[in-house]
Amino acid sequence: MQNFDYMTPTRLIFGQGVVKQLPEVMAPLGKKVLLTYGGGSIKRSGLYDTVKDLLKDFEVYELSGIAPNPKYTDSVVPGVKMCKEHAIDVILAVGGGSVLDCSKAIAAGAKYDGEPWDLITYKVPTKDALPIVDILTLAATGSEYDCGGVISRTETNDKVGYMDPHLFPVASFLDPTYTFTVPANQTAAGTADAMNHTIEQYFAGDTTLLNDGICEANLKSLMANCKAILKNPEDYRARAEMMLDCTYGCNGILSLGNSESGWPCHGMEHALSAYYDITHGVGLAIITPRWMKHILNDHTLPRFVKFAKNVFGVEGKDDYDTANKGIDALYNFFVEIGIPMHLKDVGIDESRLSEMAHHVAVNEGLENAWAPLLEEDILAIFKDSL
Ligand code: NZQ
Ligand code: ZN
Repeated sequence: MQNFDYMTPTRLIFGQGVVKQLPEVMAPLGKKVLLTYGGGSIKRSGLYDTVKDLLKDFEVYELSGIAPNPKYTDSVVPGVKMCKEHAIDVILAVGGGSVLDCSKAIAAGAKYDGEPWDLITYKVPTKDALPIVDILTLAATGSEYDCGGVISRTETNDKVGYMDPHLFPVASFLDPTYTFTVPANQTAAGTADAMNHTIEQYFAGDTTLLNDGICEANLKSLMANCKAILKNPEDYRARAEMMLDCTYGCNGILSLGNSESGWPCHGMEHALSAYYDITHGVGLAIITPRWMKHILNDHTLPRFVKFAKNVFGVEGKDDYDTANKGIDALYNFFVEIGIPMHLKDVGIDESRLSEMAHHVAVNEGLENAWAPLLEEDILAIFKDSL
């Protein structure tokens, strides 16, 4: 078991109707609020009006239109400018992972005099950030409970993960009813994203029985609840459990004491989203089973056998057969929940695969992953995913 130093200071306020506590949670953080949100789902659902009403005693400024795979130039830079111009005290992010991630970058940029990209790329250390509160509307990324964000810079085809302890939200409001309106394709993509977060932590060299058990349970819960939600999008119980499954996904709690895995599927998917602006969870679902088949060998086999037996309850005529049956079961689950499972289905052809593989090999350090990936491995996985 590896040493670790762990803290998640974020307060989770979970359940139907909890948003009424918003004013009392926000009050100690200041009067001037930057309310951030996406392309309009919160207006259609009525949450925007609820929030504005709850914040009637605050001075509220708004940054809207934060896009999926949030963009540095379009959203982070204007958000930082607004914070500085209006001397904002606190950011309230209302939306999915993209709104939360973008708000984290803005929070740090607001406390820095130079170019915020320097913080995002760790050229300079993050020394401070505005406090962030969020109201989550889409279960997927775990951004509500971690200190990371992923920001895209279209001009340079970059999509980079930015993590710093200053970026933990102060509090996250998790009301499952706000996810009732999430459409089937985003529900499926969110499930695939959270499943992959779990898988990225499960497939490591040194793991514990405790972590393995939690990861296996999380995967089973995500799959069962996703199916229930696709049948009935307003199934509170299923939306609630799904929300918490996803919240656990990304802050390291699933892998305390494990050795590093290198998060290879995320490293590869970030290039797909950066070059083609595809939905993150869909890219992960396409890549994950291909990555699994590519790295299956005598060294990795025992993990795959455990995964196949404990997550999917499948067993073959020998260990390799069992492992392959587990990978196929994962693939079939993604098909079952309606995810397009080929890159060509999401508008990606062979033309830029080599360029993307090179970009990943240079930027993501996957040669140090649990199952090391060189540029030719990454390209092979992309080609298998076509
Ligand atoms: O923009 P609006 O109108 O709000 O619509 C959004 C968007 O079109 C919509 N949506 C959100 N809540 C809804 C809803 N539609 C109806 N009803 C609701 N209640 O869903 C669409 C997708 O939203 P987005 O925020 O992009 O999705 P998600 O939460 O999956 O976030 C994806 C982003 O998070 C990053 C990804 O790379 C991607 O950029 N990630 C962040 C991580 C983190 N912070 O730890 C980890 C992840 O690995 C991931 O990389
Ligand atoms: Zn992810």
